Amino acid sequence: MTRIPERLIEALRRARRTVILTGAGVSAESGIPTFRDAQAGLWARYRPEDLASREAFQRDPELVWQWYQWRRELVAAAAPNRAHLAIAGLARILPGVTLVTQNVDGLHQRAGSGGVIELHGNIQRNRCSADDELVEIATTGSVKPPNCPRCGAKVRPDVVWFGEPVPKNALVTAQFAAEHCEVFLSVGTSAVVLPAAGLAHLARAGGAMLVEVNSAATAASENADLVLRDSASSAMTALVQAVSGG
Ligand code: OAD
Repeated sequence: MTRIPERLIEALRRARRTVILTGAGVSAESGIPTFRDAQAGLWARYRPEDLASREAFQRDPELVWQWYQWRRELVAAAAPNRAHLAIAGLARILPGVTLVTQNVDGLHQRAGSGGVIELHGNIQRNRCSADDELVEIATTGSVKPPNCPRCGAKVRPDVVWFGEPVPKNALVTAQFAAEHCEVFLSVGTSAVVLPAAGLAHLARAGGAMLVEVNSAATAASENADLVLRDSASSAMTALVQAVSGG
């Protein structure tokens, strides 16, 4: 069981506003590969950066579409793990928790978290690659991008690709929450992708306690006031128990 320092328990109990930023490490224990671990099987020879971009989609739409179809299948077959459940539990016992995620898998919502700020979109939705309007279309089993029923352009997943801006409302809300929180938890993220990684800096500049939960060291480790060096499931389960007095 992860040991939770007393000063973290006290800070969380006292905090009126807490921000939890999550990354792919939170879903790793649900069987969804992270981005910066080596890719498995079929996809081992590609880097995610070479698949998750507008240029890649223009160059080889079928390849990019099939990679997302594969990730969609993983997501559909996955279930929230103890980390997702503990994060949802923490928001029930603490006031003013804002959950910001870089994950596109919807597992926080399936674990019962409400008001999740999705910085990078959601893989289960699709949009038109020409005008970015959402498209409701069945994609199960398709091996190439369908055409937009309105304009005929290719349909793409509603996720943020490298080089694209994150949705403005989501970013502004996340930045405001980070600037005004008292505790900022960075959970299962390598903390290298902007603007998500910048949220921890905003929080720190605003005087928040910065806490990292990660099984390995990251770019955020040295700025953290506290590090829980454990899996997200163990650490977050221990944290929610400690805060609730269990
Ligand atoms: P990364 O793949 O960059 O990092 C995953 C992090 O999770 C690493 O720091 C691991 O050490 C940690 N980790 C792995 N398993 C863990 C576990 N069981 N418990 C705790 N930590 C664990 O994923 P992100 O930081 O989410 O963006 O990547 C950020 C963004 O880069 C993604 O949203 C995606 C990607 O490119 C876009 O697609 C736009």
